[in-house]
Amino acid sequence: MNDMTPTREQREAALEGMGCKRKRVEDIRFTQGKGNYVDDLKLNGMLFGDFVRSPYAHAKVTRIDASKALELPGVVAVLTAEDLKGVNLAWMPTLAGDVQMVLADGKVLYQNQEVAFVIAENRYIADDAIQLVEVDYEELPVLVDPFKAMDADAPVLREDLAGKTEGAHGPRNHHNHIFNWSVGDREETDRAFAEAEVSIKEMISYHRTHPSPLETCQCVASMDKVSGELTVWGTFQAPHVIRTVASLLSTIPEHKIHVIAPDIGGGFGNKVGAYPGYICAIVATIVTGQPVKWVEDRMENLSTTSFARDYHMTTEIAAKKDGTVTSLRVHVLADHGGFDACADPSKWPAGFMNIVTGSYDFPTAHLSVDGVYTNKAPGGVAYRCSFRVTEAAYCIERGMDILAKKLGMDPADLRMKNFIRPEQFPYHSALGWEYDSGDYHTAMQKAMDTIGYRSLREEQKARQEAFKRGETREIMGIGVCFFTEIVGAGPSKNCDILGVAMFDSAEIRVHPTGSVISRMGSKSQGQGHETTWAQIIATEIGIPAADIMVEEGNTDTAPYGLGTYGSRSTPVAGAAIALAARKIRNKAQMIAAHMLEVSEYDLEWDVDGFQVKGNPGLRKSMKEIAWAAYNAPPPNLEPGLEAVSYYDPPNMTYPFGAYFCVMDIDVDTGVAKIRRFYALDDCGTRINPMIIEGQVHGGLTEAFAIAMGQEIRYDEMGNVLGASFMDFFIPTAVETPHWETDHTVTPSPHHPIGAKGVGESPNVGGVPAFSNAVNDAFGFLGSTHIQMPHDAWRIWKAAKELGAHG
Ligand code: CDP
Repeated sequence: MNDMTPTREQREAALEGMGCKRKRVEDIRFTQGKGNYVDDLKLNGMLFGDFVRSPYAHAKVTRIDASKALELPGVVAVLTAEDLKGVNLAWMPTLAGDVQMVLADGKVLYQNQEVAFVIAENRYIADDAIQLVEVDYEELPVLVDPFKAMDADAPVLREDLAGKTEGAHGPRNHHNHIFNWSVGDREETDRAFAEAEVSIKEMISYHRTHPSPLETCQCVASMDKVSGELTVWGTFQAPHVIRTVASLLSTIPEHKIHVIAPDIGGGFGNKVGAYPGYICAIVATIVTGQPVKWVEDRMENLSTTSFARDYHMTTEIAAKKDGTVTSLRVHVLADHGGFDACADPSKWPAGFMNIVTGSYDFPTAHLSVDGVYTNKAPGGVAYRCSFRVTEAAYCIERGMDILAKKLGMDPADLRMKNFIRPEQFPYHSALGWEYDSGDYHTAMQKAMDTIGYRSLREEQKARQEAFKRGETREIMGIGVCFFTEIVGAGPSKNCDILGVAMFDSAEIRVHPTGSVISRMGSKSQGQGHETTWAQIIATEIGIPAADIMVEEGNTDTAPYGLGTYGSRSTPVAGAAIALAARKIRNKAQMIAAHMLEVSEYDLEWDVDGFQVKGNPGLRKSMKEIAWAAYNAPPPNLEPGLEAVSYYDPPNMTYPFGAYFCVMDIDVDTGVAKIRRFYALDDCGTRINPMIIEGQVHGGLTEAFAIAMGQEIRYDEMGNVLGASFMDFFIPTAVETPHWETDHTVTPSPHHPIGAKGVGESPNVGGVPAFSNAVNDAFGFLGSTHIQMPHDAWRIWKAAKELGAHG
């Protein structure tokens, strides 16, 4: 007789739990065009809103006349700042403690700024009406260069701040100054530099770019005037925070506001903040009593709805002659545009820039950041990055390469020499962080061995000789990067958004037949939470992932959470999920003990149920326990099987990685070919290796775009150049290199399942790897640092300036 009882391995495989390369369940609807995005929403009587925008970067608005637009059939209303003043919404608070105009209030501060909101029966009429709104502007001098922002004669951008010498983050020293933020020991750092045997100093710029998700920002607002309830569907990475902010601003009670984030087509930090479009759509539905949709187009998104980076980092490293680093001193000039709307936790005006000591054991360091206003769009969002970590990683990884060159040392060897050693964890950095775990030497060695680092260096040397002899016009660069991330904001003691503490949450409900509905405070924008969250639950409570439904984004049903950005979902919501599941397992153990008529302590967990210790034949599966939980619970135990967990992490997690880029550059055309790109990531316990690989591929592709061409540029009049995909580099499959991925596993000691975040890592580590490759290629021609982005034109120019064209 065949024994059909599944083996332990078969039961385990059936769960598709943690570690399984489970296929993404959400892709079934995405690949069949069945996703449900904001713009798919059609409501009865729905109106459309669209913006009149400023052609000028800096101008007074002296007259707005909407009378001709209002005469156009189908136009319902035109809102201006004067109308918004009636509901106290002409200005809105930003996440960074500043205020921002919703609609131009007397002046504009950047090109394409929102001036008036036209509401019409459909989008076409709204667009036509925009042309009919007459606006008179009086041009003002434009400030584009952040280095000139604090000149004595620099134009005054923010008259509303006149006389305010204190900002949200301390004293302001000039009318265009926003804040100064300093961390570290200045005196010790200065002393280390005074005593340094070797030092380097370089101004390293990380240019302005944009997250550019394929789906732009959009919303539908619908006010039910009878019930007094407001429903807002939107592309929100943090729906609960949007509900709280909407309630505080509108005074509509929070329980009467329903925020729903349906499927989202990419966020990358662009969909964290609140934008004028949301406010205007909400005011418009309140005014008209009809649902109002606002969907921005590509140019609007690229030119106005946030930006990323724009950090200019004067970087100094002090070292001994043998390469041991002794100190780091960094000053950042941060260009925040017309309003300070950076999406950082409130107490961190420069995000987590103080992770700038990277993976190295700096005994002392000092960081100082000055934020300034310019006539550019506001934003400063964490584009696939945990709050300025990308800037920090770029700064230190370029700095280490520059130091290696000065010392005549190999850049990989210099890194190895200065890594934080495994026994130093938990490691307290000179700028205030406690790194949870790491094994940098093992990761770096594995990467170097896999890529054949030493022989690549020999090949490079031979190529340089051949180039000097005139035998080739191609030079070769090897980009080395070893990054440490800081993700999982955050302990609520030091991380909040406008006072809302940054914890996260999960609710799990097991049905009587043993299937599950679970809801989280996180919100996927394509990261695959529906797949991976079910895997955590499957492993923890022994119910197959296929029987677990994951739902996010509806503030009426999901527990309160702070949303998804900065790779915080796995470190925070992921932990809440594991802990909620463990509560269920604890109750299940009591029920199983009752069913098997033994003590709880005589039971042990085994894959998908409880068995009696020493007698595995006596067992109850979770499916059986779930039925009993509702229909035959032990006396004195309430029926049901569900749990909620709110998780406030004790610390952040510190993923890391070793990336190598091998590049061949044709000096005559400036074209760079990526020969190899190898990415080794360590994100602790891996929930779904296939999803991790996908995250790394996506992040590397964005890193490639940023380093090699993507840029939001301005001319001297403040005209934004690069506000369409004709100019803004979005790599297609044609340009995108082949990615080689690898991993080590160093679990986080404080996370319930040992997992760290991974979504941002490839962007954080990828950009320096590409840039170091370009710089490494030109190093032998005497160059120290070439600024990004490294498009063919700039590479060609650099080659010319370095005499490579003969
Ligand atoms: O916050 P966000 O979802 O953007 O980033 P994340 O926490 O790094 O997670 C991105 C995706 O990778 C999610 O589907 C995670 O479950 C998955 N992941 C994983 O499988 N294992 C890890 N150790 C980290 C993330």
